[in-house]
Amino acid sequence: MSTNHNGEFFYPSEELKSKLHVKNYDEIYQYAAEHPESFWSVIASELSWFKPWDKVLEWEYPFARWFVGGKTNIAYNALDRHVNTWRRNKLALIWEGENAEVRTYTYLQLQREVNRFANVLKAMGVQKGDRVSIYLPRIPEQMIAMLAAAKIGAIHTLVYAGFSVEALRDRINDAESKIVVTADGGFYNGKVVPLKNIVDEAVSKCPSIISVIVVKRTGADVDMTPGRDLWYHELMALPIASPKCDAEEMDATDPLFILYTSGTTGKPKGVVHSHGGYMVGTYITTKWVFDMKEEDTHWCTADSGWVTGHSYVVYGPLLNGATTVMYEGAPTYPLPDRWWSIVERHNVTIFYTAPTAIRSLMRYGSSWVNRRDLSTLRILGSVGEPINPEAWLWFYKIIGQERCPIMDTWWQTETGMHIITPLPCTPLKPGSASKPFPGIVVDVVDEEGESVKPGEEGFLVIKTPWPAMLQTVYKDPERYKQQYWSRFPGVYFAGDSAKKDEDGYIWIIGRVDDVIKVAGYRLGTAEIESALVSHPAVAEAAAIGKPDPLKGNIIKVFVILKFGYEPSEKLAQELKNHVGHELGPIAKPAEIQFVESLPKTRSGKIMRRVLRAQELGQPVGDLSTLEE
Ligand code: PRX
Repeated sequence: MSTNHNGEFFYPSEELKSKLHVKNYDEIYQYAAEHPESFWSVIASELSWFKPWDKVLEWEYPFARWFVGGKTNIAYNALDRHVNTWRRNKLALIWEGENAEVRTYTYLQLQREVNRFANVLKAMGVQKGDRVSIYLPRIPEQMIAMLAAAKIGAIHTLVYAGFSVEALRDRINDAESKIVVTADGGFYNGKVVPLKNIVDEAVSKCPSIISVIVVKRTGADVDMTPGRDLWYHELMALPIASPKCDAEEMDATDPLFILYTSGTTGKPKGVVHSHGGYMVGTYITTKWVFDMKEEDTHWCTADSGWVTGHSYVVYGPLLNGATTVMYEGAPTYPLPDRWWSIVERHNVTIFYTAPTAIRSLMRYGSSWVNRRDLSTLRILGSVGEPINPEAWLWFYKIIGQERCPIMDTWWQTETGMHIITPLPCTPLKPGSASKPFPGIVVDVVDEEGESVKPGEEGFLVIKTPWPAMLQTVYKDPERYKQQYWSRFPGVYFAGDSAKKDEDGYIWIIGRVDDVIKVAGYRLGTAEIESALVSHPAVAEAAAIGKPDPLKGNIIKVFVILKFGYEPSEKLAQELKNHVGHELGPIAKPAEIQFVESLPKTRSGKIMRRVLRAQELGQPVGDLSTLEE
């Protein structure tokens, strides 16, 4: 990219542009808008199908079924398809442990590990459609377990290892998983993160679990329950762990995974994604947004416990036959240049991360970056929260050396794939996710669902189905309809507010519901509040997100104590720790305020927006529903 800063746009260099997969966004967007089915079907044909589809899309509003009648398997496409070519001996995965250990897997090696674990799962009685929970740190087995489940048609459901007992238990119980795969721990920031004892506590109330498979990572002492707990390495050494395993032929619409995410109220929702549509969506967005070629080394810093890891650590890069990088530990361990040293040593060409990480690394100054050779980088990406122009410019100038365009990708667990994003050929405006991906139609609307004028704030909606669209909420189609399709009938309600400018560029502002984005992590007020009220001292609690220059938001909670308890610093700390234990360290409130009452509607709902407005010193807005 040249330094060509024309007004507010940043343009890609002619040299970069000449080699891109997509050189003209408008042309391709136009074609896709006029011929959506042929557009998606040409893309799907680049992948392997055991049987072609009869129909590209069956749209029984609001349920979309893509590539109906088609048979495929995403793990077959991610691995076997490449193993059948020269790519078998190229690297699929470069993994680096926090303690500097490096493990690499060629496509053939990764396929064999996946097949072996797939055979282990089968031997343990896991069948097509069964759920397998995965609660692992960022180690290769995380990816192996996902792909193994997919290969035999089981449904994987990952729980981020930063979640704790209650969060894990709720997710396992909702999914009714047979197996949970975990580890004796992981390394993060020089410490061992214990996982097995969290699993033990959670699983004690998970009746569906028949077995816990434990990967040995740290060597820490863990309790193994006889008859239930088995070591991964011992299972993989058994004759049943054969490296040969044919992929299950799946209907394109068969579920691939369930990933739980926070919604407006109540328990987290199990977002269900399919083998066919999700595969096509992640394949093409990875290819076009990151301009991925098979010689690329792609590093997405996300954890696969979140959707970004599913789509852009595991599936997207492997579907494209590239090399994907996974790093276990903290960005600043042992020194603040750890990430840049990984880019240098593994010759990373595409680097995809979150604004919070950029803001926190910026604080260490540029010299940590400048001592490293980052000349292999070609494309940068950002995801998870709005990126402020200051962080954008630092990322662009210091990391990308004014050469690498930044893809600010807006999407969600529910969308499975990028929805609003530049392509590398798009002129960029720092802080804007720019325009919808070809084949996707979005809008910003007012309370009545009418398009707002340029520059006005409104609700972000998606107007037509897309291949990686969630299929439903697991076991709860009514909630799916209610949550996404009832606010504005006929269109998908994303839960974000946004603006569109005169050039048609979209600027995401933030969530309009009770979801809080903390350091890019998505948390629900309901889960935080229910963790708090499970403490004997708490009568009622309300959580809000409070803007923070580093993390985007921090969690602030308002707590009413039960009779007989007195507010104190000590109690505040105890409540923070309690949330950490129940939900996980990422959900720990940063601030606790003890109060006598909470603003509520006459029907008893807490008005968090009033608390937020008061906290920020903003006008509280319409109070007509507030009870006396
Ligand atoms: O609020 C938006 C924000 O993250 C939400 C989705 O969170 P999650 O399902 O955890 O998925 C995160 C990774 C895809 C969105 O509703 N968000 C995501 N990307 C961006 C963003 N906000 C602004 N800009 C982005 N690029």
